[in-house]
Amino acid sequence: MGQINERIDRLVGEHAAKLSERLMAHRAQLFPPNASKVLRRFTSGEVAGLLGVKDAYLRKLSLEGRGPQPETGPGGRRLYSSNDIMELRRLLEAGTKTPGTYLPGRRQNDHLQVITVINFKGGSGKTTTAAHLAQKCALDGYRVLAIDLDPQASFSALHGFQPEFDLLDGGTLYDAIRYEDPLPMRSIIRPSYFTNLHIVPGNLELMEFEHDTPRALAVRRGSEPGENLFFTRISDALADVQADYDLVVIDCPPQLGFLTMSALSAATAVLVTVHPQMLDVMSMCQFLLMTSNLLGVVADAGGNMNYDWLRYLVTRYEPGDGPQNQMVSFMRSLFGDHVLNHPVLKSTAISDAGLTKQTLYEVEKADFTRATYERAMESLNAVNSEIEGLIQKAWGR
Ligand SMILES: Nc1ncnc2c1ncn2[C@@H]1O[C@H](COP(=O)(O)OP(=O)(O)OP(=O)(O)O)[C@@H](O)[C@H]1O
Ligand SMILES: [Mg+2]
Repeated sequence: MGQINERIDRLVGEHAAKLSERLMAHRAQLFPPNASKVLRRFTSGEVAGLLGVKDAYLRKLSLEGRGPQPETGPGGRRLYSSNDIMELRRLLEAGTKTPGTYLPGRRQNDHLQVITVINFKGGSGKTTTAAHLAQKCALDGYRVLAIDLDPQASFSALHGFQPEFDLLDGGTLYDAIRYEDPLPMRSIIRPSYFTNLHIVPGNLELMEFEHDTPRALAVRRGSEPGENLFFTRISDALADVQADYDLVVIDCPPQLGFLTMSALSAATAVLVTVHPQMLDVMSMCQFLLMTSNLLGVVADAGGNMNYDWLRYLVTRYEPGDGPQNQMVSFMRSLFGDHVLNHPVLKSTAISDAGLTKQTLYEVEKADFTRATYERAMESLNAVNSEIEGLIQKAWGR
């Protein structure tokens, strides 16, 4: 018989311990101890697609001994690592008459782009969007820094960091934005298994920022305006490393706390992910109202509110679903060009990849039904290239 009046603190503690043990075992199964995630190789066909050249041209380069030599895989397929792709980019860029064809990143006087992915509706696809965007931009030759701002740390987990085991001694953005003895941003950035993609992982410690900030504000009341304000913490930390990257992608938590506000102040662009269903859109309405009020206050206090762009991205979209289509039309009629043309389709390829802590760019195509994989990939690539277009436009191209 179930106990009455169970002490909830003990019960929750017990459940947490059980769960943590199981998760640890699950991870040991997925990734052996001390193993870090590695990225698969890309076929010459995929690499040709990424670079916008013919496969035959890549073969010619390798036969001539120019650029990286591909590995030979099953069936004689030529396979390249993500680092090889970057080497090829440098080689081709050196020989092109149109600068930026193979290395599309910043040039002199271009500003660092900080894309913040937000919405306080949980499960609207923020992390999925941020991860696929960051990885695709890295493959496309941008130097990308991805920041996991969510204490739940799904983005980190997707990239092989197990927040509750791997980051016990700190190492999240909190270290760089805390009010007392912040560490230099550079010291908490970690490389990833994608060449060009660096990561600042998250975990529960980020919550400290939500607790510290009211205290810091109370202490500083009466000090000089503009001094050590909470909403400049992230942009100040980024200033330290800004020259090393073309863009920063920030995966926000599903709430409008000080972390999100600080990310919005650091942002040069905002991506609002929205699943096209009535409850989600109603929740987004609340979110937009609240954001607008809060940002107004931050702007009055001198915060930066100038964005290159703001876009709504329709996520987990099912084209055959009538009500979803109505919702998308409704959003388009209200927000016009602010809704990205391409939605992210709902796909079992994306959710199944997520189950093994991978994105669609990481999984092996052979593990999926071809049509399912290709449809999902097409949709993600279309969304990402639309966003890359906005990035280029913000640099005046
Ligand atoms: N296009 C898609 N097709 C199928 N499943 C998806 C798709 N996008 C996201 N999902 C799944 O939906 C769930 C929620 O997605 P995600 O974690 O990206 O949302 P989120 O907005 O980051 O959530 P949270 O607010 O909790 O941070 C995940 O399990 C993910 O695998
Ligand atoms: Mg998330």
